[in-house]
Amino acid sequence: MTRNLDAPDLWETHADWWIAGFTDGADPEYVDQILPMAADELAGAARVLDIGCGDGQISRLAASAGARVTGIDPTWNCVRVARERGGGADYSRASASGLPFGDGAFDAAVACLVFEHIDDVDEAIAEVARVLEPGGRFCFFLNHPILQAPGSVWVDDHLVDPPEQYWRLGPYLDEIETVEEVELGVRIRFVHRPLSRYVNALARNGLRIDRMVEPAPPDSFLDQGPGYEASAAFPRLLYLRLTKSA
Ligand SMILES: C[S@@+](CC[C@H](N)C(=O)[O-])C[C@H]1O[C@@H](n2cnc3c(N)ncnc32)[C@H](O)[C@@H]1O
Repeated sequence: MTRNLDAPDLWETHADWWIAGFTDGADPEYVDQILPMAADELAGAARVLDIGCGDGQISRLAASAGARVTGIDPTWNCVRVARERGGGADYSRASASGLPFGDGAFDAAVACLVFEHIDDVDEAIAEVARVLEPGGRFCFFLNHPILQAPGSVWVDDHLVDPPEQYWRLGPYLDEIETVEEVELGVRIRFVHRPLSRYVNALARNGLRIDRMVEPAPPDSFLDQGPGYEASAAFPRLLYLRLTKSA
């Protein structure tokens, strides 16, 4: 399924929620974990494509390290803010499943917390492989699929004695689209897929895994309140570094 760029969209409606809560230093996981990892993983790249760039926080980071950076996002309300915030990258409106660039145009691509919102994952992964030069790298960040299955929820049960804290897991193996109320009045679409679904699509397109990271949440996340520290052994983030075969 290809996203209709002209259709009203939940990301268009709620872009300001994302930008206010997760960019420009507002989110401890970005500040202390995701952005430092992205900086390390993109180091040395010359031409970077940031797929689903949002407000451009990763594009700006890569541009500040000297790369020529292009950010794309189908959401006007993200592209507009990315252009306002600037930082040396170029931004345009496009979807991951139809990248308006030539074959081998980039030596690095990054997608951060984007593919879990994309319907046509096979087309999008094929596009990543197409626009990367042979030997190019794909820095792929996902909300960890194990905890993203619909119905998965952190349970803090004080009705039992002693109280119990645990993850209840939803149907991990099913590929399911859901619209979740992530905050009062804010509804965002997710497509849950098991990890094998991604890995096999990447492999079919000649993208080889070189590194996989399942980090514990950073201390700044765990320090947010009682109960959070118990989630230290559960990875909220999954990172894969892939290399396009020569
Ligand atoms: C959770 S935000 C992440 C933004 C940015 N990557 C970051 O890390 O700050 C998800 C982004 O994916 C974008 N998105 C949704 N569908 C997309 C698609 N089909 N192609 C590319 N980006 C998409 C949204 O507009 C939104 O900006």
